[in-house]
Amino acid sequence: MLNPIKLVNKNFLSSLDMSSEEVIQILELAKKIKNKDISIELKNKVLGLIFDKSSTRTRVSFQVAMSRLGGTTIDLNPNTSQIGRGEPIKDTARVLSRYCDALAIRTFNQTDLEEYSKWFSKPVINALTDLEHPCQALADYMTIQEEFKNFKNLVITFIGDGNNVANSLILCGALLGVEVRIACPKGYEPNSLVMKKAYEISERKDLLKVLHDPIKAASGAKVLYTDVWSSMGEENFKEEKDKDFNGFTINNGLIDRADTDAIILHCLPAYRSKEITDEVFESKKSRIFDQAENRMHVQQALLSCLLS
Ligand code: CP
Ligand code: NVA
Repeated sequence: MLNPIKLVNKNFLSSLDMSSEEVIQILELAKKIKNKDISIELKNKVLGLIFDKSSTRTRVSFQVAMSRLGGTTIDLNPNTSQIGRGEPIKDTARVLSRYCDALAIRTFNQTDLEEYSKWFSKPVINALTDLEHPCQALADYMTIQEEFKNFKNLVITFIGDGNNVANSLILCGALLGVEVRIACPKGYEPNSLVMKKAYEISERKDLLKVLHDPIKAASGAKVLYTDVWSSMGEENFKEEKDKDFNGFTINNGLIDRADTDAIILHCLPAYRSKEITDEVFESKKSRIFDQAENRMHVQQALLSCLLS
């Protein structure tokens, strides 16, 4: 029986807050939790949720994860708390340290998340920032592992914007030694520091490839993954980005280039007929709803390790 491990870092602000070994152990624990092979109790533990951006999956999966562990959550809506009024993060965080056992925060700037972690005395979890979505990446790799058993000789192709989801997919992929290809229009590459770190930690220097040709990138891939072209906060660029991303839709033509056993992922929410066609979204190759379910299992595993 695998018990929750003690993670070296107090926080999970970035995919790189875990070692390769820790990611593997979290995925193993999440699988055991999903299969009901283990029962973990976090009785009376309280997770505070601070969401400056909308959320369905992340918010609900954290709430259900805590409830299944015997703990609870408090939804600190910025508009009805003093957070929206502009109370300094360092004051809010020090107060919440006295009430809550952990915080899951969705916000714009990674630096605000870091500021919370500096002043909050217990674990802070990144529930999405403009830079990263590390909880999503854990669920993505759990879904991929369920399908292919291990990560050997896998090619994961992300087609779309080099955004938060792509950045965490790259970093977690580097920890797991997986080949990740990003296909994006010129000017929409992933964060340059993220790519630099991925190259530094990868054993093989050719594991990360950034391409501008989706057909070439999809060739032989076991996973085709996409996300919205315009993320939350980019509403004003939508029209321009829709034009720039013309040709980057996951459709049957791209699927024909991938491996015959390829699966389709999307972190959701999706805009059908933009980054993905309805046909592909609803196809037998789609593991999109397993991926969404796995958010809950990996976060249960994560919370167990951070809080036990
Ligand atoms: N994938 C994801 O984070 O979804 P939500 O925005 O609904 O939380
Ligand atoms: N890249 C998207 C992910 C949503 C889960 C965004 O940041 O809006």
